[in-house]
Amino acid sequence: MKHTVTPHPSQAIGVFDSGVGGLTVVRALIKKLPNESIVYFGDTARVPYGPKSSDVVRVYTRQDTDVLLKHYVKMIVVACNTVSSVALDVVEKQSPVPVVGVIEPAAEIAARRTRTKRIGVIGTLGTIASSAYTKAIHRHDPSVTIEAQPCPLFVPLAEEGWDNHEATRLIAREYIGPLVEKGIDMLVLGCTHYPILKNIIGEAAGSAVTLIDSADATADVVADLLAGHSLLRTESEPAEYTFLVSDVPHKFREIGERFLGRRLDRVEKIDDTHFT
Ligand code: DGL
Repeated sequence: MKHTVTPHPSQAIGVFDSGVGGLTVVRALIKKLPNESIVYFGDTARVPYGPKSSDVVRVYTRQDTDVLLKHYVKMIVVACNTVSSVALDVVEKQSPVPVVGVIEPAAEIAARRTRTKRIGVIGTLGTIASSAYTKAIHRHDPSVTIEAQPCPLFVPLAEEGWDNHEATRLIAREYIGPLVEKGIDMLVLGCTHYPILKNIIGEAAGSAVTLIDSADATADVVADLLAGHSLLRTESEPAEYTFLVSDVPHKFREIGERFLGRRLDRVEKIDDTHFT
């Protein structure tokens, strides 16, 4: 049920993702808004969402949103591209506080900056199958041609830390090469994990292609929204970060710290039967 609440500037920003990947979005948020406290929830017990049906992702999304609302956040950032593609309306319906997904911010930048009117979009199977980026880009410029490519192998490669590995280079060329041949000049990194592989994706795309990082684009939109709603935190004490997960898998801290770019001091496993 949706309640009416008035968010307060001192509350934290809520961020959720299918797992650890959304920490790339948290990293971008901390860089852009260092004074904001953040509550992050990663559904590490049920990740990945990318290969799952949209019906299942929508059910998970409802439960993920509940976790954040229980922490009285002032807004919700849907860091997961798959959720933003197939279930943003679920969060919007449920949330009494403002909601930002990752699709629209990156789509807007890519549509505005393309010169060749050909934009490449890479993401999970779910994100690409939904055509969410195509629809969002076409709302800004219907004349753009979209070259979309699912890149499911990038998720485990990023988690494995293979961001400078020949195997990843080879796979990147397989995925990205055909998009470049079609004349794209923008490539949207439509998945939480892809910023980790930015160098290799950039090499495969070549210098004529600009990479659009949906995490950075989203952080800019969040900053504008908070300012527009007079919700920017004004306290001078340092911001607080809370990291919640539905499971603590092996290597979670190692992967998480790499994605976040800083230490993960405290990670709490939530106690909720929905997630077990
Ligand atoms: N977080 C997901 C996304 O951005 C990638 C990982 C997954 O498949 O759950 O789409």
